[in-house]
Amino acid sequence: MTTREALARQLTSARERTLRLVELDDAELVRQYDPLMSPLVWDLAHIGWQEELWLLRGNDARRPGLLEPAVERLYDAFEHSRASRVHLPLLPPTDARSFVRTVRAKSLDALEALPDDDGTGVDPAFVFGMVVSHENQHDETMLQALSIRTGPPILGRGAPLPPGRPGVAGTSVLVPGGPFVLGVTAAEEPMSLDNERDAHVVDVASFRIGRVPVTNGEWRDFVDDGGYREPRWWSDAGWAHRRQADLTAPKFWTEAGTRTRFGYVEDIPADEPVQHVTFFEAEAYAAWAGARLPTEMEWEKACAWDPVRGTRRRFPWGTSEPSSALVNMGGEALRPAPVGAYPAGASAYGAEQMLGDVWEWTTSPLRPWPGFTPMLYEQYSSPFFEGSGAGDYRVLRGGAWSVAPDIVRPSFRNWDHPIRRQIFSGVRLAWDA
Ligand code: AVJ
Ligand code: FE
Repeated sequence: MTTREALARQLTSARERTLRLVELDDAELVRQYDPLMSPLVWDLAHIGWQEELWLLRGNDARRPGLLEPAVERLYDAFEHSRASRVHLPLLPPTDARSFVRTVRAKSLDALEALPDDDGTGVDPAFVFGMVVSHENQHDETMLQALSIRTGPPILGRGAPLPPGRPGVAGTSVLVPGGPFVLGVTAAEEPMSLDNERDAHVVDVASFRIGRVPVTNGEWRDFVDDGGYREPRWWSDAGWAHRRQADLTAPKFWTEAGTRTRFGYVEDIPADEPVQHVTFFEAEAYAAWAGARLPTEMEWEKACAWDPVRGTRRRFPWGTSEPSSALVNMGGEALRPAPVGAYPAGASAYGAEQMLGDVWEWTTSPLRPWPGFTPMLYEQYSSPFFEGSGAGDYRVLRGGAWSVAPDIVRPSFRNWDHPIRRQIFSGVRLAWDA
């Protein structure tokens, strides 16, 4: 089991991150930057509410909590759309802060008291890991909101990143066909979420995959070549959306050839992975480039499989913990690293920057792996599975610069609607081989 010390450290680092993101005036915290995003104060109290429910109330909402029932319902993500949350009688920032602080003190006490093994066969530490994952995921959501926010910047320019390497953009690596192990077991990844389990053998045909994600410079060529005006590169649904939303370039790009994000106007670095594109744009770019998008099975094989040993690697580069020499994660940089920045982070097949930098769209709808069993937070995955009626979702892989290294693995699966691009989404190409 993951040690109490490690979980306490992860809880604390998630909370430091949350508090840095809400180190703002009350007026700022209750603002809605975009109808796609909640006011930051909603995310803050929602983090505390889920933590209290899972760790302190045994996931039983009938057990009394710190908030009145009518108040806690405001933080149920299934009850209130993001667009509507700004109109709710939310806890004022001061109350939200003290709520999350009180909950956290009790959670740390509960962690102290946690048995190594409670005899149920379920890792008693898992729920704490789930809380770490949830808080960090909402921190990323808050970063999305802050990246859309206009007005004088309130975050700095971001921590420095290593330089890229020339000549890697547009190159690819071969992944020979054959079976590999998709997904992970609870034994090898105790903090993996329900949709990453269980490990099972999958066969994929030979394919090539981009050594690195598609860059802004490459995307500029697509724009300049009229890619957004040419229906033949787009799927029918993609073209309909492109027209309806009047897409002409990635989100935040301006007519002047600059981009605006986090309140800054800046040049668009040609060697940085493109981000803020929809699945539909990714698909069109791939068609224009004579390629396609990978499936999530292909993506995971290229990321984690070690063909020499015939086993999965814990991380693309092997077993050492993520570090700033291997990967751009954690949110401090506020941007993806240039392509080629992490040669030491390459997978067994030579694919680089599989983790961190940008989420990568795959063609796969979200589906359960065989034998799927929902975790304590039953609503995490299954309402979004294909066929569940919740709409169209595509899987994104690999995490982004905005994701905490504590919660992402080669098996981690994210998903969103194919029209979304306020997320830190980018593209890695694939080809049949
Ligand atoms: C896994 C990122 C799609 O934000 O909708 C947070 C994560 N679920 N609270 C989302 C999540 C519940 C989820 N994604
Ligand atoms: Fe949530």
